[in-house]
Amino acid sequence: MDLSLSSFFPLPPSEVFSTLVEELSRALGGVRLTLEPKKGGRLLETSPKGAPREVAKILEWDPGEGIVFEWHPPEWARRSPTTVRVQLVPERGGTRVTIEHRGFGEDLLTEKGEELVGWFASEVASTLFQATSPDRLADWVTDRQARRPSGRASREAYRDPIYHRPNFAALLEGLKLTKEDDLLEVGCGGGAFLHDALQSGCRAAGIDHSLDLLHVAEEQNQEAISEERLTLVRSEADQVPFEAARFTCAVMTGVLGFLPNAPETFREIFRTLRPGGRLAVFDGSKAMRGTPAAPEPIASRVHWYNDREMAALAKGAGFTEVRVEHPDLRKFAKLSGVPEEAFELFKGRACQLLWAVKPLKPVSRPRSARPAPRSSRRARARAPVRARR
Ligand SMILES: C[S@@+](CC[C@H](N)C(=O)[O-])C[C@H]1O[C@@H](n2cnc3c(N)ncnc32)[C@H](O)[C@@H]1O
Repeated sequence: MDLSLSSFFPLPPSEVFSTLVEELSRALGGVRLTLEPKKGGRLLETSPKGAPREVAKILEWDPGEGIVFEWHPPEWARRSPTTVRVQLVPERGGTRVTIEHRGFGEDLLTEKGEELVGWFASEVASTLFQATSPDRLADWVTDRQARRPSGRASREAYRDPIYHRPNFAALLEGLKLTKEDDLLEVGCGGGAFLHDALQSGCRAAGIDHSLDLLHVAEEQNQEAISEERLTLVRSEADQVPFEAARFTCAVMTGVLGFLPNAPETFREIFRTLRPGGRLAVFDGSKAMRGTPAAPEPIASRVHWYNDREMAALAKGAGFTEVRVEHPDLRKFAKLSGVPEEAFELFKGRACQLLWAVKPLKPVSRPRSARPAPRSSRRARARAPVRARR
């Protein structure tokens, strides 16, 4: 059987090649295939049961032109290897990539036809339909750029998120951090806010479920990490992996609308704050929907909380002194180097900033407002695990 897949990209071949190799390696890693990206490199299948098995060998590796793999037949099959070609051809100012596998599966998929069509429909065509369905594609873009950012462009964007800097400034102005503080940031992204916060001399911890951005956060905050003032942990927001009553303050910025379980996230933050600890949550208000700050398809995948709903999340978790502000951030936008034509995005109603405090003494709440006991909570207060590649 022969199969080929082709697409055009508006980039020069060398750029297409490096992105293709990076993304393919990552995706293959997720299905227990390891690519050694070099001539003579191998494609290895790892199994929890035994030693890695070589699936293919790289015969040609040319960053401008492509890759040729020799695909091994399985041990039990008596037939010759097949060839997979990844070809990059310059076309109309960009690059056409064609991936082609010829003569594979002939001992398994009979030439009678029906089995071939069955395999093609269920394994290949259905994957193409899923990958290109409008909602799936929109979900992919949302994850890729904001909900769980990954890839080179996101790493660059979150290294210095200039449009988030006015928000950071408002948070820092209100938090008034000192070196006595221990700060938790939930959804720390590329660590730019942590970097600014750590200038106060405080200690901090950041959690995020994007491994790509945690690596950026690590690179950006090397000094604080080596001074043991910063811990970064890969984690979901509703499973904060720290012990109870550790932090003096907590922050979430640009995260709330993405959370699948916001009430539990607030409860987890409450649990890990000391009595008297402050919480600050920054988000764009519904007024931002559809503007360059919250474009589609991301805007339609965000939960837009109104002030009352935002405050209810904090109160429901046990916080007191809850208030939601709409600060005008244009002064910070100017100081952060945001281009003047974007200042409007930082006007009062566009921003929501929640402040709340964990009471010094437990406040008795009606039974209906209390979270159900969860035995797993104790287990989660384990020692943090650093982000690893
Ligand atoms: C729009 S980015 C904001 C990043 C950073 N706070 C900033 O302002 O630059 C949203 C971040 O929240 C993280 N995030 C979203 N949902 C999350 C969840 N359920 N658990 C952990 N992190 C989450 C994403 O991975 C991403 O880094």
